[in-house]
Amino acid sequence: MSRQGDQITWVRETQHLDFMDALRQLADRAGIDLHEDANAGPARKERQEAMTAMDRAVTWYHERLLNSPDARPAREYLRSRGLSGDVARQFKLGWAPDEWDALSTALKLNEKVLSDTGLGFVNKRDRRQDALRARVIFPIFDPSGKAIAVGGRILPSSGNEPRPDGRIEPKYKNSPETPIYSKRRTLYALNFAKDDIVKSGEIIVCEGYTDVIAFFTAGMPRAVATCGTALGEDHFKIMRNFATRIVLAYDADSAGQSAAASVYQWESQHEVDVFVAKLPKGTDPAELAQRDPAALQESIENAAPFLRFRLDRVLEGANLKTAEGRVRAGESAMHVLAEHPNELVRDIYIQDLVGRLGLDQDILRARVREIAGNPASGRFVRSPMSLRLSAARVQPCPVRGSRRCVSSCTALPL
Ligand code: UTP
Ligand code: MN
Repeated sequence: MSRQGDQITWVRETQHLDFMDALRQLADRAGIDLHEDANAGPARKERQEAMTAMDRAVTWYHERLLNSPDARPAREYLRSRGLSGDVARQFKLGWAPDEWDALSTALKLNEKVLSDTGLGFVNKRDRRQDALRARVIFPIFDPSGKAIAVGGRILPSSGNEPRPDGRIEPKYKNSPETPIYSKRRTLYALNFAKDDIVKSGEIIVCEGYTDVIAFFTAGMPRAVATCGTALGEDHFKIMRNFATRIVLAYDADSAGQSAAASVYQWESQHEVDVFVAKLPKGTDPAELAQRDPAALQESIENAAPFLRFRLDRVLEGANLKTAEGRVRAGESAMHVLAEHPNELVRDIYIQDLVGRLGLDQDILRARVREIAGNPASGRFVRSPMSLRLSAARVQPCPVRGSRRCVSSCTALPL
């Protein structure tokens, strides 16, 4: 990228902001109102007030965590998870005390600001009430480092205890959507990670705040997390400004589960490559970082392309010793393959599957085309009743290549 050019380009390049954010920042500095909508004037002022309140709140929570006697269990909890004081300072972690209105009162936040930040509300008794109580605070910043939201985690000692009304407290409570916070456009820790992301060309996406922090402490300070939403198109638009290699590092159970068709679409639309890190079953990055940081690093280095990962999943769960098992695996694999829009890519993987499953290449090709054209077709079924139904359906036999797969055929999808 050229280092010359106008100021917007300069701010975009040096701070890795998108065009609108760069423009907003320059306008803010120059004291100019950007007329983004009909209410731009007052809206800007309100946004500014909310940002200021959020900034003060984050500092207040942080100070409580570092110094307050009532935050001792929180400090101990963080230490027990390998999160030292330095980490708490780096990520500006905080503590929301176990009081109804400590924050609102200390910072004199009015009703409007409470609602514009999501930090609190006015309750039925007409009293101000903090949104987060007795929680460790993970502040969320925009890419330029301004606080825009918070997430709060309960301590395990208070976890899952039914409340008087019988409800169970959620593990995390996060700021709602507000004028200064849009979940689908936010990636937690991007402000901290962006330099290393640009330097390495790689961005690691995880599920939780603690996973992100774990990557930093394990020597990979290029991790971000979605904030209580699924990874979506807006996240891709942001990420592509920073890096083209995107590695999903999700808990083993949810890895590869993202809506596949969308992922492929975003890959081609935004010219990025999506990989999936394979973590040992039952672990998440935070846990693995504490137990075996080298293994975490390896999982990122050896991350597989999204499609490869999904196919491997199918094959790992299959019994490849019997013909029926191989056919069943082949059938599932074709469904996974058919989601990929590029025939050339599909074909490369088919060739690989031919070797691993011993099935006929032309039949696999035809099958993938058929499924791609009609995704509901021939989804194999398990119950005897639907087995009969599926046998009646006209479909090419995956083993023998005849036009019809008849009920006597051992290759019948079971
Ligand atoms: P997880 O349940 O995997 O939490 O949720 P975690 O990151 O492993 O948390 P720790 O390590 O036990 O502290 C992943 C993410 O989903 C959102 C949070 O953003 C969390 O980081 N989440 C989870 C919620 O918003 N609410 C919840 O009750 C649970
Ligand atoms: Mn987790």
